[in-house]
Parts: sequence; structure tokens; C-alpha cells
Amino acid sequence: MALWGGRFSETGRAELTEFSESISFDKRLYKHDIIGSKAHVAMLAASKIIPQATAEAIAAKLDGIKAMIDRGEMEFKFELEDIHMHIESTLIAALGDEGARLHSARSRNDQVALDIRLYLRDELDFLIDRIREFQKALVSVALENDCVIMPGFTHLQHAQVVLFAHHLLAYVEMLDRDAERLTDARKRVNIMPLGSGALAGSTLPINRQMVCDQLNFERVTRNSMDAVADRDFAIETASALAIFGMHVSRLSEDIILWSSQEFGFIELSDAFCTGSSLMPQKKNPDVAELSRGKTARLYGNLTALLTLCKGLPLTYNRDLQEDKIPLFDSLDTAKAILNVYPPMIATMKVNAARMREMAADPALMATDVAEKLVELGVPFRTAHHRVGSLVKYCRENNKALDEVSLEEMQITIPEATAEFLTLFDPENSVAKREIIGGTGYKQVKSQLDFWRKKFEN
Ligand code: ARG
Repeated sequence: MALWGGRFSETGRAELTEFSESISFDKRLYKHDIIGSKAHVAMLAASKIIPQATAEAIAAKLDGIKAMIDRGEMEFKFELEDIHMHIESTLIAALGDEGARLHSARSRNDQVALDIRLYLRDELDFLIDRIREFQKALVSVALENDCVIMPGFTHLQHAQVVLFAHHLLAYVEMLDRDAERLTDARKRVNIMPLGSGALAGSTLPINRQMVCDQLNFERVTRNSMDAVADRDFAIETASALAIFGMHVSRLSEDIILWSSQEFGFIELSDAFCTGSSLMPQKKNPDVAELSRGKTARLYGNLTALLTLCKGLPLTYNRDLQEDKIPLFDSLDTAKAILNVYPPMIATMKVNAARMREMAADPALMATDVAEKLVELGVPFRTAHHRVGSLVKYCRENNKALDEVSLEEMQITIPEATAEFLTLFDPENSVAKREIIGGTGYKQVKSQLDFWRKKFEN
């Protein structure tokens, strides 16, 4: 008979048992379920709802159950539905009536809300830490290559020259916001729901603040119905992870392009690539591709959670049991990506010579010529047009921009002086971009210093 079986005369059908179980995926909550139950039982005793000796016996047995699950000795059964029932029935089997006092003033609805919050809080701390490691890997490659010049792209077309370090630091910024979003989500995870009961709290004189303090939560939830009904904190986490995935996916796209024969900007370490079963020469950037692919799951999980909660009447509905599958999958997926990405970045070989060769394309400096004209007082639109005409002249005469003589240049740009012929130097072009946030050497160096200092603490 199930722990809730009092009003039932028939036991459930096997198909229902299998259909409604959550133990297969919520067993991972066991440590947090036990931590929560220990705090609850200590509070029950302090509030004189159960005897002190009973609370101590329950707490000791809960420790024993934890050790038993740690050792893999708990037999998980669909009949016991979820992790909460497994732990409680083991407790009652061992302690009888004493064990049956644990669930006083508690419902599985507030219990599961508590467990997810406790679990998620730890997972968020871990993820935030791993994102920092990811940033550090990018910063260290940027530091080692702080003067490497590459073509920067818009529309995947050569645009203007940038420092490779500047490009990498763009991702460090994105990851920083990802970590911030998770830190922000954690604030709303870190609120204590226990004591909300099934939906209407309890008639027993419980002390919610005591549980809150013991479990290190920021505060208790203010509304019992909200506390058992909403999963917005899980949705926020899934959302932050979906955005993280989007960022990783973009980096992956860069990595995949850069490691192609056409670009040749980087070479990934063999340890992070696989070959082809057919083509002997192949070395594929699987980590980047799989991370890009797994991002689809992160999006799907967010959509699943939003859809799950949409249209549910207050308060708890059994639908909510389905929250764990997408939430856990997002956490696992993000962790899997974070496990392999930083070492792949840290071990990639940067082909500075190849990037520099591509950056020598004088067309990348066309904007510099237009800006030089602005310095001489020419309105930018006019300057843009004149340089555009120079580009056209060069195309028609089959010349690169830096192959025209001053006289030729003056056909389309009458203001041109000898200095204009020096504008096609990529190092100069970078060196002139010393505005805040720019790709100038000094700017990028100060950005690198900023991150290095940030990660020292
Ligand atoms: N396994 C359930 C879940 O994960 C626990 C809560 C069940 N509550 C209930 N009233 N049946 O959501």
C-alpha cells in the first residue's frame, strides 16, 4: 500500500505505477531531500510538535539512509513513486511510528519545491564556477596571442582588422553575462518554500524561519500557494542556460570555421577531435559541433518548462512532476559542454601567420581611408563614396587597393596625399583604434589586465 493509500480500496494498475513514477529521474535529489528532512525534523522538535528523542532518531536514520543510497544499496521501485516516498518508507520501515512523524506539517508539494531549490542552488554554484574556468581558458589564449592580428568579419565578409585577443574577449564578455544571469537566477532560487504544505500551510505551530536559517536560505516564501505552484525559478535557470548555449554555439561556429582548411586560423588538439570512418584524412571539430547541437536541447528544455507551466491553475498540479526532466537535462547538458570546452580552447594551436596573411587584404583598411578623409574635413558620406569609387577603379583595373599610385588614387580621391599610401598597414590600423572598447593594442591590453585581475581573486 502506498503511503497515501488510506482512502483507496484498490491498488493502482501496474501501467499507472509505471506511468506516474518519477524515481527514475528524481533519485538524484536524495541528498537534498535528506538535508531538507533533517532541518524539518529539528524544527518539529524545537516547536514541540514531536519529541526531541524522535527527532534525533529520525535524523540519525536519515543519515543512514543517505549512506545507503551513496553506496548504491537502495532498491528503487516504481511502486514507491518518487525519491521522497523511497526515503520516507525506508525510514518508517526502520523506525515504525516514530518515523511516521517526519511528514508532520509537510506535503510532498512543498517538499519537492524545497528539494529542487536546494539542488539547483548547488548546481548553479557549480555552473557559475565552471563558466569562470571557461572564461579563464579564453583569456589565457588571448594573453598568449595578444598581438595577433586577424580579419574581423561582418556578414562573414572581410570587414576590418581586429586583434584575435579582442575577438576572444568578446566571448569572455558574453560568458560573463551568462554567469551574471545564473547568479541572478540563484537569488530567486534561494528562497525557502517548506511550511507551505500542500497549498495552505499548516495548522501546526511550525517555525519556518528556523528551517530557513538552518538551510542557509535568504528568506522564506511569502505565499504558500505561490510557493508550491510556480517553477519560474527553474524556467529562469533554463533560460539563462539556453542563452549560454546560444553563446557557445556562436563560438562553436567560429571555431568550426577557423579550423577549416579554408580559414586555417587555428588547429584543435587531436584529443578534442575525431576522424571519419570513411575518409582517412579527416579531423573533425566534434566538440564544437556537438555543443552547437546540444544547444538545441537547451532551447527545447526552456520551451518545455514554459509550456508545462502555462495554463496550470493554482496550485500544485501533477504536471509539475515533469519539470525535473528538462531542468536536469539543461543542467547536465551545460555541465557536459563546460567539461570539454575550456580544455579544448586551452589546447588549440593558434596560427598567427595565417591570420596575419589574411589581415593583409588592403580592402580591410578601406574604412581607414575614408576616416582619414574625415580628418581632412571631408563629410563622411562623401569620403565613403570616394573610397567606394577607388574600390571600383581597383576592381576594374585588376589591382589591389594598395597597388595604386598616388596619382591613380587622386583620380577618385583628390585630397589623397602620400600618407594615404601608408594606410593599408594592418598593424597601423589596429594601433589607431585606441578608443574605449576598441581593438587597439593598449585597449586590448587593458581589457586583458582587467580580466586577469578579476580572475586572480
Ligand atoms: N513526484 C512529485 C513531483 O515530483 C512529488 C509531489 C507529488 N505530490 C502529489 N500531491 N502527488 O512533483
